[in-house]
Amino acid sequence: MAKDYSLMEDSNPSSNPSIHEVSDPARRLILRGGLGLAAGGIFSGLAGCAAGGGLSGPLIGFKSVPVSTKDAIVVPEGYTSQVMAPWGDPIGLAGNMPAFKYDATNTAAEQEAQIGMHHDGIHFYPLGQGAEGSKRGLLVMNHEYTDDGLLHADGMATWSAEKVKKAQAAHGVSVIEVRETGGTWEVVRPSRYARRFTGNTPMTIAGPAAGHALMKTAADTTGTRALGTLNNCGSGITPWGTYLTCEENFIGYFSGGATQTADERRWGLRKDGWGYRWHEHDERFDATKHPNEINRFGWIVEIDPMDPTATPIKRTAMGRAAHEGATVAVTKDGHAVVYSGEDARFEYIYKFVSERKIRPATATQTAAQANRNLLDDGILYVAKFNADGTGEWLPLVQGIGKLTTAAGFKDQGEVVIKTRQASDLLGATKMDRPEWIDIDKQGWVYCTLTNNSDRGAANRPAVDAMNPRANNTQGNIIRWKEEGDFDGTSFRWNHFVLAGDPSLARAEAKGNIKGDMFSCPDGLWTDSRGVLWIQTDMSTSAMGKGDLINMGNNMMLASDVTTGETRRFLTGPAGCEITGATQTPDGRTMFINIQHPGESPSEKSDPTAVTKISSWPFNNRPRSATVAIRRKDGGIVGT
Ligand code: FEO
Ligand code: CA
Ligand code: CA
Ligand code: CA
Repeated sequence: MAKDYSLMEDSNPSSNPSIHEVSDPARRLILRGGLGLAAGGIFSGLAGCAAGGGLSGPLIGFKSVPVSTKDAIVVPEGYTSQVMAPWGDPIGLAGNMPAFKYDATNTAAEQEAQIGMHHDGIHFYPLGQGAEGSKRGLLVMNHEYTDDGLLHADGMATWSAEKVKKAQAAHGVSVIEVRETGGTWEVVRPSRYARRFTGNTPMTIAGPAAGHALMKTAADTTGTRALGTLNNCGSGITPWGTYLTCEENFIGYFSGGATQTADERRWGLRKDGWGYRWHEHDERFDATKHPNEINRFGWIVEIDPMDPTATPIKRTAMGRAAHEGATVAVTKDGHAVVYSGEDARFEYIYKFVSERKIRPATATQTAAQANRNLLDDGILYVAKFNADGTGEWLPLVQGIGKLTTAAGFKDQGEVVIKTRQASDLLGATKMDRPEWIDIDKQGWVYCTLTNNSDRGAANRPAVDAMNPRANNTQGNIIRWKEEGDFDGTSFRWNHFVLAGDPSLARAEAKGNIKGDMFSCPDGLWTDSRGVLWIQTDMSTSAMGKGDLINMGNNMMLASDVTTGETRRFLTGPAGCEITGATQTPDGRTMFINIQHPGESPSEKSDPTAVTKISSWPFNNRPRSATVAIRRKDGGIVGT
């Protein structure tokens, strides 16, 4: 239901002291420019952290699996998959562990203590040192949206405040504790770490938009305290141990009434939203009554999973956008660089460079505490890809270039709240739906462009060098390498692969894949050995026909970035997408998420026929879930 991308195409339609310190990005940009480009370009970010080690032989060692239309997970010979943490299982709050009811009669209050719906980005945080840290840890995962046809016993046939509350409770983020014994994983219940962040959880707003006039509402006259996080799609991790959850298509939850302002239209606000119907029972989502509430979403939110009392913080310095994910690199001199794509047709790719350097933990502070406000100050940039294979990062800084008061940006708060409008003004490159981003061991930054059926259509942007296919049904993976270090302001780019099916007659849809074919890349993750894992999200409305006729269900593949070879590792159940990936430090368990198994082509399930498309995973009402994948011999996954 919620993923109605047809609605996205109309998205064209103060000195604000942060709560931590006064910022002046324009001044800092000048200062940084004066430092010159750091030498080198060797990746020093998270993706390069060591795991198993001492391995020899080819990077990818498994035998690929064929395309599949089975309602099952298929993994290579010699591998096992185990379903864990499905939607609705209790997260493990002491004294509050309501069991999942297959007739979907769990209440909103019960859903608040249960795993959310529609799992997405995920990360494993070890608990314990050495080998113990690969057997016990926290899984922190996003829940992107809800299929209300499955969430409620009678779907949306009736509608009520209780149902809105249950839908809000099924959104957000879950933290669960997990442990492995003899190759089998289980959720630890109760756990002191178990936590849910929902569409109603109190959060702090920090950075240049905190306290801004455009962030103030009747319920929060300070503009610094928001309720909830929504449409949490991809995620990222910081070197200081926190989790970044990304608010993607937040606008769909709001009703904009009969008319919208130009700014509201630029974000895709429309009369009754995208079908969530929250505004009918929760006035906060009626933008005609609370027009600034929409400005309080679209941020990257930082969560410290190791501190069960920590309040999530919306980090506005990284810009407001339909953030797909957030990928952190580290410069040689210790600055954090956060890449994020905006998944909507003709939107942008951003990067943020922290002003300060990452600090180590001390005797009295954890790393998370030592870097608590690092993401509140820095320079936000938007990407411009030139036809000659070069590119530049354009600063989104008030007072620099066109971003003046006269142009509608009177302070940095207004720039980050109106990141899209500012990027339009600077002439940034309009992309074919940028999804996840990750970085290889040579410092190439990869980004999936999942598809764009509107490229080249009437009154829409034409093809360009970076987005070379009109009616791009298949998607691409692009990559770039910064000049100098990750904080460089120029780069070189190329197409890593154009996805497609070589057997198709339509030349533009064939692609140039070396190895197993795929379409609509979305999830992207570099494991500790440097394998680039690709996850697909062909929409259920497009699957099995047209250019996707031979692709079967969504899948996950491994790519050797040095040879370009791509090998299919896993296929998912019917009507699902595969998204999110993480591993234990020893590389012997990989966790991925299966999102929306059983999704119907209308993207809204019929509650009277919930198992019509899929009954995965337990031969009953379909449930999004995490899957733990291991080699039967206990070896490193992927070798
Ligand atoms: Fe939430 Fe762009 O997928
Ligand atoms: Ca996605
Ligand atoms: Ca997608
Ligand atoms: Ca999705």
